[in-house]
Amino acid sequence: MASLTIRKLDDTLKAYLRLRSAKNGRSVEEEVRVILRELADGRAEPAEAVAAVPAASSAPVPRAASAAGEPRITLIIGGGIAAYKALDLIRRLKERHIQVRCVLTSAARQFITPLAASALSHERVYTDLFDAESEFDAGHIRLARECDLIVVAPATADLMAKMAHGHADDLASAVLLAANRPILLAPAMNPLMWNNPATRRNVLQLRRDGIHTVGPNAGEMAEAGEAGVGRMAEPTEIAAAADHMLRPPQPRPLAGKRVLITAGPTHEAIDPVRYIANRSSGKQGFAIAVAARAAGADVVLVSGPVELHDPAGISVMRVESARDMLHRVEAALPVDVAIFAAAVADWRVVSEGTQKLKKTSAGMPPLQLVENPDILATISKLKDKRPPLVIGFAAETEHLIDNAKAKFARKGCDWIVANDVSPASGVMGGDRNTVHLLAREGKDVTVDSWPVMTKEEVAAALVSRIARTVGTAS
Ligand code: C5P
Repeated sequence: MASLTIRKLDDTLKAYLRLRSAKNGRSVEEEVRVILRELADGRAEPAEAVAAVPAASSAPVPRAASAAGEPRITLIIGGGIAAYKALDLIRRLKERHIQVRCVLTSAARQFITPLAASALSHERVYTDLFDAESEFDAGHIRLARECDLIVVAPATADLMAKMAHGHADDLASAVLLAANRPILLAPAMNPLMWNNPATRRNVLQLRRDGIHTVGPNAGEMAEAGEAGVGRMAEPTEIAAAADHMLRPPQPRPLAGKRVLITAGPTHEAIDPVRYIANRSSGKQGFAIAVAARAAGADVVLVSGPVELHDPAGISVMRVESARDMLHRVEAALPVDVAIFAAAVADWRVVSEGTQKLKKTSAGMPPLQLVENPDILATISKLKDKRPPLVIGFAAETEHLIDNAKAKFARKGCDWIVANDVSPASGVMGGDRNTVHLLAREGKDVTVDSWPVMTKEEVAAALVSRIARTVGTAS
């Protein structure tokens, strides 16, 4: 079957396709496919309806999600001696897992080559506004919008003047004028140019327009013997500023607080190869640990045997039995908040066999059980080191709220997270949870019933409630 080259279509058709695809937020190729499908289904849209859309329609173009979900920057490299540092900037951005697509002005090409920028960014480099290959589907609009941030480095006096006055006579200025993403400029020029009243006016105007700047720094210029403010900020500074704009730091209401969490099941050995266990996956406790860490807490996670990796930035202690867990918990005190999400085995065998138990003609070996220490109750009843906020979990298969309320008396904790673990709920080992938060307020108990949420959402909700109680959040 013959192939269709959109570039070779006549201008009217290309203009129609361009407008229609921009309006629908699709690539031109995708739009052609949709039109063909509509034609086949007998529901094609009349051409005039789309041609009436103003060319300057500002409908947001959905950004192309990068393969790894990494943020994307369109990096405009202006023409100045600092352009060579833009190559290093590409590397610094990629180190931070940011995808980079470069636009080079014609002046930039006097200093560095598109090939170098392409080799470092691993992407095609764009240079011409009237490039047939990229402009057949309004490539400058896509460059402006298929990104999360536009960085201009070096931002020359000329490029900034063009931006301040809305010029669009080359690819870089057209991308900047068409942008609906945040813009970060890294100015670089001779100190006299930087201090020139025209540049001062332009910089002021750009800042008023909401455009961000990093640098310039003071230092020596490329021009022999000249120094002053005008050196482009270092690539590491620009990359940090860009990263800060892409991933602004989250509030840390639990900063300075120490949070202890137990998670997972415990294994109570019967003999060297057998043990008593339960179906807990540890997912809920791990999710709470991650959420507490994200809120800035110093987190200690004491986990029974689970198939989950140690979350970054958290001190994880792996244990087997309830008694091991209790020892690790006691050693982690004092803490500001203790959350007991582990499904601790209630019993262990009185004396663990040192050898594998054998089948004998005498029938089944008697397994005499003894109760495990209740870690939650032990910590809740401590005199000196009782954490200010102790939270227990109640996994119930029936009479959820009543059973959970009864636990306050037995355990002595402050809050109970009650969840239905009947087989029909799919909570044990699953990814979702339905939770009721019971809190003791004097003699009363308040019950907050949350909607069905993922375990991560439950963790976030619990941590934000904790932050409102013991942290800096209000
Ligand atoms: O008594 P029950 O097992 O239903 O209580 C559940 C709560 O008590 C959970 O927070 C669990 O982590 C904690 N617990 C404990 N030590 C035990 C048993 C339960 O910390 N031995």
